[in-house]
Amino acid sequence: MQRDAFGLDLTAASAAAAKHYDDTVSGYLGFRRDVGDHLKATFAADPGFAMAHCLKGYFYLLFCNPALDSRTAKTLADAESAATATNATERERTHIAALRLWAKGDLNGAAARWETILADHPRDVIALRLGHFAHFYAGDARKLRDSVARVLPGWSEQQPGYGYVLGMLAFGLEESGDYAAAEEAGRKAVALSAGDIWAVHAVAHFYEMTGWPRDGIRWLRETEAGWKDCNNFAYHVWWHRALFHLELGEHDETLALYDTRVRGDQSEDYLDMSNGVALLWRIENAGVNVGNRWVELADKAEKRVNDHVLAFIDAHYAMALAWAGRVSAAKKLAEGARAAGAKRGTSQAPIHATVGAPLCEAIAAYRRGAYAQTIACLMPIRYALDGIGGSHAQRDLFHQMLLVAALKAKDFKTARGLAAERVQQKRRSPSAWRAYGEALAGAGDKAGAARAQAEAARLATQ
Ligand SMILES: [Fe+2]
Repeated sequence: MQRDAFGLDLTAASAAAAKHYDDTVSGYLGFRRDVGDHLKATFAADPGFAMAHCLKGYFYLLFCNPALDSRTAKTLADAESAATATNATERERTHIAALRLWAKGDLNGAAARWETILADHPRDVIALRLGHFAHFYAGDARKLRDSVARVLPGWSEQQPGYGYVLGMLAFGLEESGDYAAAEEAGRKAVALSAGDIWAVHAVAHFYEMTGWPRDGIRWLRETEAGWKDCNNFAYHVWWHRALFHLELGEHDETLALYDTRVRGDQSEDYLDMSNGVALLWRIENAGVNVGNRWVELADKAEKRVNDHVLAFIDAHYAMALAWAGRVSAAKKLAEGARAAGAKRGTSQAPIHATVGAPLCEAIAAYRRGAYAQTIACLMPIRYALDGIGGSHAQRDLFHQMLLVAALKAKDFKTARGLAAERVQQKRRSPSAWRAYGEALAGAGDKAGAARAQAEAARLATQ
């Protein structure tokens, strides 16, 4: 029996194997590019290492790519036989049970197993981070916050990895609207570990949600050396920076970031694709000609129309397809989302059925100019959109789409209500005030429209 870096019993053949495992976990927590190398070294040191097999299975599932399902199944079988052969601990077996559930699509069931582990082992950072992922894609901000809060008493500042826990807390606090506490925890996490990209990202969310784009850009510039060499998650942080530039009306800078960073390597990864789609739509909506940039996104989305791993991903693929004019592929994706919603036993099925499928319909309708239909699809589900997961900043894409649809449909009463909500949430956002002004003007309130446009102009110069 070995001990891992956090003091947990680890059924590994040697101290060397345990060390390579620790390096793998550390690389994963830090979104580093060398995770695969460390995992290979772990297996070289101990081919029958149950937790290493389990971790490998988790990594496959994190790609959200059904093409990896057979490899996940093989890895799960390897983990199970290794656990039996080495008489793995209860904690390790619970991890493997979580992997089994997740591999069947029961991410909520897996999250319950991780929470069970954490109740006894608050320093099991893999259970914590994967629970964080699960709560994130369940769109449950309170669980995101509370899951980390529960384990904090089991940590002290001196322990390695504490910064990562604070970074997760910061993000949970931010998503649940406690912005001041989120900023404080995130900054402290980055002070403890300059390369903690998740904590840097949590603070970027703080700036996004509270409407300080210039400070957000400064924050990302100041911390860039620590996170720029991370894995593809860095593209998502660049995405945040691009959003700040877009809010400031710096369209050239936004488009340059899109080309060189957000879609710099044009990968097929779901998060990278989602970043691209969500930024390109916003850029185009700001009146910028984006050329043929939808094509490469649609080419990749078209290969994934049968995936339906997460409704969040489906919605972004649906946009790529619709905006590139791939109507039949978009239709196939929407029909598949409905069928996925009828399946039993997966955590995503009810989300596909109640939110994902109507969202795909709303997107397709918007693209063909049927704005009233977009409103009809989105209005009943807008408060349920959290259920597709992702962050408030990511889902804001669909809330923006609803507002713009109302303006384009000349449904100014709806637009006025939605825009009034938006300026309440984003009091410092010039674009929100411009949309409010447009809605008020359309509804015949000339004086109100002038006041809103004046506020937009005032904020834009701050
Ligand atoms: Fe984000």
